[in-house]
This record gives sequence, structure tokens and C-alpha cells, in this order.
Amino acid sequence: MIDGVVITIDGPAGTGKSSVASMLASRLVLDMLDTGAMYRALTLQALSHGVSTQDPEAVDRVTRECIVDFDFAVNPPRVLLDGRDVSAAIRSQSVTEHVSHVAAHRPVRERLVLAQRRIATAHPWLVTEGRDQGSVVFPHAPVRIYLDARPEVRARRRCEQLVAQGERVDESVILAAIIRRDALDAGRATGPLRCPEGAKVVDTSDLTQDQVVDRLETIVRAMVGHTLQQRHAQGAAPCA
Ligand code: DC
Repeated sequence: MIDGVVITIDGPAGTGKSSVASMLASRLVLDMLDTGAMYRALTLQALSHGVSTQDPEAVDRVTRECIVDFDFAVNPPRVLLDGRDVSAAIRSQSVTEHVSHVAAHRPVRERLVLAQRRIATAHPWLVTEGRDQGSVVFPHAPVRIYLDARPEVRARRRCEQLVAQGERVDESVILAAIIRRDALDAGRATGPLRCPEGAKVVDTSDLTQDQVVDRLETIVRAMVGHTLQQRHAQGAAPCA
């Protein structure tokens, strides 16, 4: 009996990790773990207790006992904070503004890393997406992918998102912010962004989303296609 396949997708913001991970998971009939949603859920908890998200002790105090989980029975999975569905609330503007502070706190990261490993034990057929999944959380995952894109492309994608939300944007300001954030990200002490050793790097700059997913599917089938077929043969899930 085979007991699972974890596929990790790391990379900076603006490479389309979440959408691509979700499409890949659907194609391969795997569960998909959106780890950013977990950081967002704890940010919501901190904000709803009125504490500063830049105060590590206060954030720790109000989030320490929280359980962040998912209801995988629905697609996309519902995000649960202490059993309560917070899927919509974690996408609010204020959560988006504060989440990077919360994600920088070491105790928060340590707890969520453990929670992510627990989820993978319960859902071992998994595509998991987030900046540290292959580098820190699942360094022995059989398939580790690192998505990248040129900063100009990531800035343009971000601008398109903001314009679609009705905001006015200056692309050069966004590009400067991305370059600054990349430098901070790579150098930060807790959870720096880095390409996992041995990861397959896919530059998405000149690819459509479908082309990226095609490429990832080819990589996954080449590496663990046999295991996916075995799972199919055991009747657990269809495998296209
Ligand atoms: O992908 P997202 O926008 O939902 O991520 C929210 C924030 O959490 C973003 O600041 C990146 C951070 N994050 C992280 O530090 N580690 C992860 N594994 C996932 C997200």
C-alpha cells in the first residue's frame, strides 16, 4: 500500500503559486493546502483581539491556542479557525495589509509548520503551496517545485490585480516595492525565501497559467507518475 505523495510549490509573490497549485491538484486529484490562508487566519485572530500585529508577544498570546484547519470535503477547502469558517474574512483588506507582520513572527511560523505537517499526515496526497514548503516544511517531499518570474512581470501581474479591484496604481512604484521586498525576503532571519535544494525551477514570466500547469504536470508525472497510477489502480481516485 502506498501512503501518499507531497508536491511542494514555493516561490515569491506574483508567480501565481495559489492558482497554479489549485489547478494542478484538480488535474491530479490531490488535496491542495494553501498555507498563506493559515497565516491569514492567525492575522484575523490578532486583529479581532485588537492587538498590534507588530507586537510579537501580543500576537503570540492571542494566537497560541488557535487551531487552524481546513474542511477538505469542499473545493476549494474551507479555512477553519477554531472550527469557524473564516474563508471569506481572511481575504479582507486589513488582513492582507497585516499578514506579512504576523508571518514574520518565529513562534507563529513554528506552530504553523507543525500544523502543516499534521495536515499532510491526515491528507498525504497533497499539493502544498507557500514560500517555505519545499525548503523548510517538507524538505524530503518527492516533488519540489520553485516558481519564479522576472520582477517586472510580477509587478505587472500585481498591477493588473489591483486595477481589477478598482485601484489606481503606478507600476514603477509597485516594481520598486517588489525589488525591495525580494531583498528583505531573502535576508530575513525567520523563514527566508530560498529555492529548495534539488527543486525543479519553472520561470513563469513568459507562460500562461495553463502552460505553467502543463509544465508542472509533466514534471510530476515524470517523477511520481508511477505512484499516482498505483493509487489509481487501488481505486482511491481517478488519474487522468
Ligand atoms: O499567499 P498569501 O498572500 O495568502 O500569503 C499571505 C502571507 O503569508 C504573505 O505575506 C506570505 C506569507 N506566507 C508565509 O510567510 N509562509 C507561507 N508558507 C505562506 C504564506
